[in-house]
Amino acid sequence: MRDQTVGNIISNWKDHYPSLFGNHTLILKHTIHKSKLFTDKALIDLLENAPRENYHVTTMDKRVQNPTFKREGHFGDLSGKDILKAVRTGNIWINLQNPQDIRSEYGELLADIYGEFENRVPGFKSYKHKMTILISSPKLKVKYHMDVPGQSLWQIRGKKKVYIYPAKPPFLPQQALEKLTINEAHETDIEFQNWFDDYAEVYELTPGQMAHWPLNCPHRVENHDCLNVSLTTEHWTNQLRNHYAVNFGNAMLRKMGMNKLSQNTSGLGLYAKAAITAATKITGIQKKRTKPYVIDFQVDPKAPDSVQDITPFQYSK
Ligand SMILES: [Fe+2]
Repeated sequence: MRDQTVGNIISNWKDHYPSLFGNHTLILKHTIHKSKLFTDKALIDLLENAPRENYHVTTMDKRVQNPTFKREGHFGDLSGKDILKAVRTGNIWINLQNPQDIRSEYGELLADIYGEFENRVPGFKSYKHKMTILISSPKLKVKYHMDVPGQSLWQIRGKKKVYIYPAKPPFLPQQALEKLTINEAHETDIEFQNWFDDYAEVYELTPGQMAHWPLNCPHRVENHDCLNVSLTTEHWTNQLRNHYAVNFGNAMLRKMGMNKLSQNTSGLGLYAKAAITAATKITGIQKKRTKPYVIDFQVDPKAPDSVQDITPFQYSK
């Protein structure tokens, strides 16, 4: 049964927000943190029933002096309770994707979220919705990165500081965006400089707050000294899909040696690029380019940082 305690999801909507939605960062109040879907009990249930392809568990590589490399791990046969304990005492980050595959209530919540935005923002029509639950350790830092679809971050438990940067060079070089679009780079492969912070929007997110930023804005996150439970929701619109098609097409044309490429999302150029995107996907080229992951630790609440080194093995979805 869907948790009925949530009610209206956004609790402080204002009449002028539709003009800002997607164009500027919006920090809104929500009610999802009151839901029973994110208690320890609910999370343990999800963690114990999550298929392997539905989660990533990561840590920063502390075996080097200035860690910039993200390590991927797995739960092994750890109980959900021990996985949560490992997050509380360790230095790890769990991305649990598509929780609706495990319990349908999460899918209902996701549909409610987008149903509410579509009611509140005239002309906003979205599809390919995705929910990911983020469960992360106290003081954990998430490296500078960007995400390809439209995205929102919902704070459920704990507190985190979010830095959001402009989605344009030098913060997001065009070629990096294109490589991410065709899956030739991981989302954390874009370069960060400390002076970028002078141009960041900085927010402290507490339970009951969410952030929605313009498409592709790079961001990074620092947890306060507490367990954090957050959600990301992702979506596509026709406009976002057109941007994607242009970036995808440009990436492919660049690989063919063409360098003077337009960013226009209308006119013949877009249709040619959309055709390249479609053709590439149909022939499965993109699938083959997806980078595999190397799993090199097992989550273990008894190990330092809850990270137990194992013999590395390759994993791809
Ligand atoms: Fe992100």
